[in-house]
Amino acid sequence: MSPELHFPTDLSHYEIPTSHQSVCLAAQTGMPYVVAEPCINCKYTDCVEVCPVDCFYEGPNFLAIQPDECIDCNACVPVCPVEAIYPEDQLPEEWEHYTQWNEYLANQWRDLGYNITEKTPPLDDAEEWEEKDKSEQDILTWDV
Ligand code: SF4
Ligand code: F3S
Repeated sequence: MSPELHFPTDLSHYEIPTSHQSVCLAAQTGMPYVVAEPCINCKYTDCVEVCPVDCFYEGPNFLAIQPDECIDCNACVPVCPVEAIYPEDQLPEEWEHYTQWNEYLANQWRDLGYNITEKTPPLDDAEEWEEKDKSEQDILTWDV
């Protein structure tokens, strides 16, 4: 049975690491890749097919990369139709906070068993959402 969905309106209550902590994290784990805003409500999942270490974790309308598992191979970057994936150090400035969201959400979804290893159909209105403004507030998570 699938968990119920809810809008994580309380995500703002979670403390996002400061940029200083983020730098320390990068030093510890290399340079993981990060799924950024264009993935929200699209979820094409082409990235999953090419990842050699299966480090993508699935939420209802977004995928996140687990930074300790990512081996920085770059395979996922060119296959994403909406250019949602970046090396951490090449994230557009407005999406830098997705580094923390990927870590937080990937760990939550990993704990719940939502590792995704095969391509699935995109969300029904994926093409429509490609053109819309969106933000991390649009990310859905599982009811935990
Ligand atoms: Fe997987 Fe490589 Fe992309 Fe990391 S960079 S998420 S290991 S395909
Ligand atoms: Fe998202 Fe692109 Fe993968 S839309 S699911 S990052 S292929």
